[in-house]
Formats: sequence, structure tokens, C-alpha cells
Amino acid sequence: MDRPDLRKPLLVDRFGRGIDYVRLSVTSRCNLRCVYCMREEHSNESVSFDELQYDDICRILDVLKVSGIRKIRLTGGEPLLRGDILNIVRYAKTEKRFERVVLTTNGVLLERHIQRLLEEGIDGINISLDTFDVERYREITRRSSLKEVLRSLQCLFDDAVQLDLKINVVMLKGINGFELPDFVELTRNWPVTVRFMELMPFDDHQIWRTGRFMGAGMVYDMLREHYPELESLRGKATEHFSFSLPEYAGTIAIIPAFTRNFCSQCNRLRITSSGKIISCLYSGQHVDLLDALHNGSCNGELVDLLGRAVAAKPRDGRNASDGNHRTSMAEIGG
Ligand code: 5AD
Ligand code: SF4
Repeated sequence: MDRPDLRKPLLVDRFGRGIDYVRLSVTSRCNLRCVYCMREEHSNESVSFDELQYDDICRILDVLKVSGIRKIRLTGGEPLLRGDILNIVRYAKTEKRFERVVLTTNGVLLERHIQRLLEEGIDGINISLDTFDVERYREITRRSSLKEVLRSLQCLFDDAVQLDLKINVVMLKGINGFELPDFVELTRNWPVTVRFMELMPFDDHQIWRTGRFMGAGMVYDMLREHYPELESLRGKATEHFSFSLPEYAGTIAIIPAFTRNFCSQCNRLRITSSGKIISCLYSGQHVDLLDALHNGSCNGELVDLLGRAVAAKPRDGRNASDGNHRTSMAEIGG
């Protein structure tokens, strides 16, 4: 008899896509106020009333594990604002043994956490950084924390070679476009992936309507212009958007977050910091996991809810656009 393929995802949607990756936002709070993400007036409370508690997160991780999820990304808001973030990483990595547990952070509080995160077995870290210029950083994030982020980066470069390290750069026309080569140069000596991302229409101020949007094509042209020797990396799902330079240690990627070319390979679900499962970033629908959790549902029932969210996955982001635009990435975690 054939052995079952244990690597096959348990969750498969209507279009045959296996779902084995969950992005879990652990807080909508943030210590920055990026103009493309949230308003200055965004809650400053140190605790938000509907934020998932540690026990809720553990139950959710239990349910994700038995449903065949392999990779967990902890996001926010800023996940390092949670006092129990190391416990969450430990639960996911050491106790539940997810294959990959990774974190997206703005890097401000990272330096003091790096050692412990490594000890808890974190597999990768994505740092969001859009500029190396102090003044521009303040304009984009409305805070003055660039020094802290750069220190965290240096620390990662020095100590954490075994980590899968990525830098997310949201490209903003007329603001940070010309810094593209400075970011590329990070890949010269460090085995880091620099990811140039398209701006997405998830912000209260709708700055993406103000001519700041830089499409993947434009970023590619700039990259080619500066680096004619650019080589496409083959053999990856993101083949057309992944590059390297001869003799450089790292890689460069362009993420068409808005033009959405990756939908056919989408393997993910999102869970918000208030426990709602979102099947697609562009859909206004959700399945409320926390409600069920607090109403005494057993794990089996929670697994069914997860299945329902997978069944609701639209074919692609265009099909999902139902006029219910989300106002910020902070709760859903990008
Ligand atoms: N468009 C593109 N990226 C965004 N992020 C937050 N809001 C937006 C937006 N409107 C990014 C952050 C981070 C990732 C999680 O999402 O910069 O890198
Ligand atoms: Fe915070 Fe990230 Fe939003 Fe910036 S983009 S305000 S770092 S959650």
C-alpha cells in the first residue's frame, strides 16, 4: 500500500491550493505611525481590549498545528510590544514544533530581543525599513527611531547568520525611490533578502492615491538601470521577481503586493489580532475564531471554522474585491 504523503497540506481550497502558512497578527498596537499604515491618532493604549490573550494564541496554534499548517509568521502592529512574545515563539517552535516560525518587526525593539528570539528557535526575521535617512524616516514613520533599527540590523548581521533575514522596503515615489541602490548594497556582504514592495491601498490617509505608488515594473526598470548585470533567480515560485548580483551574498526581490501576481500560488490565511480569520487580504469577509473560542468550542469545532475560512478563499484578489476596503494593515499584519 502506498504511504500517505505526509508533506501534503491537510487544508486545500476550492482551487486546489494547499494552505500551510498562517500570518498571525499578535497586536494591532505599534510604536511607529507609518503614513501608509495608520493615523497618528491610532490607539496608544498599552493593551487593546480585543487583543488575543496568550492562552487564546496557544489554542489557535494548537488548532493550526492539527490542521497541517507548517509555517507561522507572527506580525502586528509591532509584535515585540507584547511582553509575552518570547513565550509565544517558544510555544510555536518548541512545543508545537512548527517547521518555520518567523517574525515581522519594525526593528525598533529588536536589538534587546535578538538573543532570546534565537534561543527560542526563531527561523526568520523580516524587518520593515523604508529609508536610511533620519529626516525621511521621521516623515514616513512619524517617529525618530532610525538609530535603534540600524543597531538591530547591525546586530543581526553580526550575530545571526543562521537566520533567514529579510528587509521589507515599501517603495514610495519621490520619497525613497532613489535609495534603491543603498538597499541593494546591503546584499553585497550580507546574506539578506531585500524586498522592494508595492504600496497597498490599506491606509486611512489613502496616500496611495497621491501619486506615491511605484509599480513593480518601475522598480524593476530602476534596478536594471543601476545594475545591468542583474540575474534572475530560477526555480522559485517567485521566479520572475527574485534576483541576485554576481559576487553579492544576498538576494533582491520585488513584491507586487498590489498588482497581485501571486494569487494562483497563495498558500496562506491571516488571523487578526482580535482573532478573525481572513481568507484573502482583499476580501471584507472573516470567520470569527475568538468568538468560538470564548463560547467554549472544542478544538474540533475550531478546526471546522478554519476549514470554512479556507473554503471561502476567492480565486484571486480581484475576485475578492468587494468594496470593503480595509483601512490599515496593523490589525491584519500585512
Ligand atoms: N502598503 C504596503 N505595505 C504596507 N505595510 C504596511 N502597510 C502597508 C501598505 N499600505 C508593510 C509594512 C511591513 C509589512 C508587514 O507590511 O511596511 O513591511
Ligand atoms: Fe507600525 Fe508596521 Fe504600521 Fe509602520 S507599517 S505603523 S511599523 S504596523
